[in-house]
Amino acid sequence: MSRPYYIAGNWKMHKTRSEAAELTETLVKELKDGKHKYLVAPSFTLLETVAPIIRGTNILLGAQNCAPEEQGAHTGEVSVLQLKDLGVQTIILGHSERRHNYKEDDALINKKVKLALQHGFEVILCVGELLEEREAGKAEAVCETQTVKGLEGVDVVNLNRVVIAYEPVWAIGTGKTATPEDADAIHAYVRKVIAKLYGDPAAEKMIIQYGGSVKPDNAAQLMAKENIDGALVGGAALKADTFAPIAKFA
Ligand code: PGA
Repeated sequence: MSRPYYIAGNWKMHKTRSEAAELTETLVKELKDGKHKYLVAPSFTLLETVAPIIRGTNILLGAQNCAPEEQGAHTGEVSVLQLKDLGVQTIILGHSERRHNYKEDDALINKKVKLALQHGFEVILCVGELLEEREAGKAEAVCETQTVKGLEGVDVVNLNRVVIAYEPVWAIGTGKTATPEDADAIHAYVRKVIAKLYGDPAAEKMIIQYGGSVKPDNAAQLMAKENIDGALVGGAALKADTFAPIAKFA
């Protein structure tokens, strides 16, 4: 089965409004004829700037996180209602920087996943092992746990709006990319986990992005692998010069 490719840019905590507008305007032009599915995920403070520039184009608007509750006394958090109001379509959840630097556990991430799906968002659920976990032979087990727990209580209908991003933590922002073979092996494993949970048709349809130092010169080799259906791009998403060639990989 052929799955569509999905290339997403995670801008993390970068850019001011004018920088974000400039990058977005360039991306709209550069990706106009792009054949894949595209997303940019700017900081919360930039969403209102980026939204009108990509409205009606082939680029979706993503957020990098959301609160686990709809609204209320949650100082410093941003709610799904506020994100919907800004036109956000997709929410990245469980990013390794949230898991490891801000101590988000699988239960919290699962709560956010369910809330985001309930409000009609697409979710990119990130999973991935630490270097010591890989070296201890636990990469598959870690990704399985994060997938199973992240999706607990999500039914097969809502799974249609879930994308998984495999991001080995040791490859994020380090310049070290997983080899296409190693990445594909984990993607295939995660697909098997989805098949066990939801059946083969759902697993066959599941988009699994790879993330971790994706660059213009390694994108095509990664994407050539059977189970790699796109990329979640950090550093290289900050410039049109590097994001556009990844988005239009041949
Ligand atoms: P990177 O980040 O491309 O800079 O490694 C990827 C990510 O964290 O999503």
